[in-house]
Amino acid sequence: MSDYENILVEVTGRVALITLNRPKALNALNEALMNEVIRAAESFDRDPAVGVIVITGSERAFAAGADIREMASQSYQDVYLADWFAAWDRFAAVRKPIIAAVAGYALGGGCELAMLCDIVFAADTASFGQPEINLGVIPGIGGSQRLTRAIGKAKAMDLILTGRSIGAAEAESWGVVARVIPADRLLAETLAVAKTISEKSLPVLIAAKEAVNRAFESSLAEGVRFERRSFHAAFALDDQKEGMAAFLEKRQPAFQHR
Ligand code: CAA
Repeated sequence: MSDYENILVEVTGRVALITLNRPKALNALNEALMNEVIRAAESFDRDPAVGVIVITGSERAFAAGADIREMASQSYQDVYLADWFAAWDRFAAVRKPIIAAVAGYALGGGCELAMLCDIVFAADTASFGQPEINLGVIPGIGGSQRLTRAIGKAKAMDLILTGRSIGAAEAESWGVVARVIPADRLLAETLAVAKTISEKSLPVLIAAKEAVNRAFESSLAEGVRFERRSFHAAFALDDQKEGMAAFLEKRQPAFQHR
């Protein structure tokens, strides 16, 4: 039995699904929900039966941000000493691919959670924004950094300084979202993509994710050198032999996932 109260978890094949489940508060990220999402993601990251993690919310809201009710009375001392939101660094350190399936509101911390994932698929009903400015604060789960890297300074400033939201089509054309999918097919299509990814070699998926993320943390020359070394390292894996043999033998590869 699951010991989570604010999320639902389910594993099908090699795909783990985490569903945010605080419908009355539009999945607002209170401390309990945040801790459960991070704990579940870490536990699926350790689980050898899981290859890919999908995170979703409800039809109405992926997540409407950090929980304003919980934050309202906090002092500087409280949030500084508790180092609020630092635990998300553990989520960012998850090595397996994470896909966000976003319908409805992805605001504030909800938009930031989507951007913490490796791929974002959006329903045509999704909206994205960083409305913290309207509450007298700024984004706190990496929004000012990840949004700026995703869409550039001009558009990030527009969203973060005005607090306005954008729809799914705009989010896709700006580069926050990989694909826009009709709302009634969002989860099924996301899970199908997750299944496809989960059938690849797990160590190679991890290396590919690590290499792409290097692009945000290094110079081009360093990143390219890192990629080349990881490419070389893939030749130490049985899965490289299998993948290339399968191509030459005109069959599907059977990767070992370990
Ligand atoms: N925190 C706490 N409760 C929230 C919430 C939030 N972020 N967002 C919505 N809720 C609650 C509402 O208080 C309401 O609860 P009650 O029924 O008990 O009053 C319930 O969810 C439904 O919300 P609404 O009645 O407001 O629904 P709506 O359809 O009229 O509006 C909305 C939807 C536009 C998303 C609106 O709820 C809203 O603006 N929410 C806040 C969005 C926001 O400012 N997010 C940023 C939070 S700060 C942050 O995230 C900091 C960070 O970077 C980590």
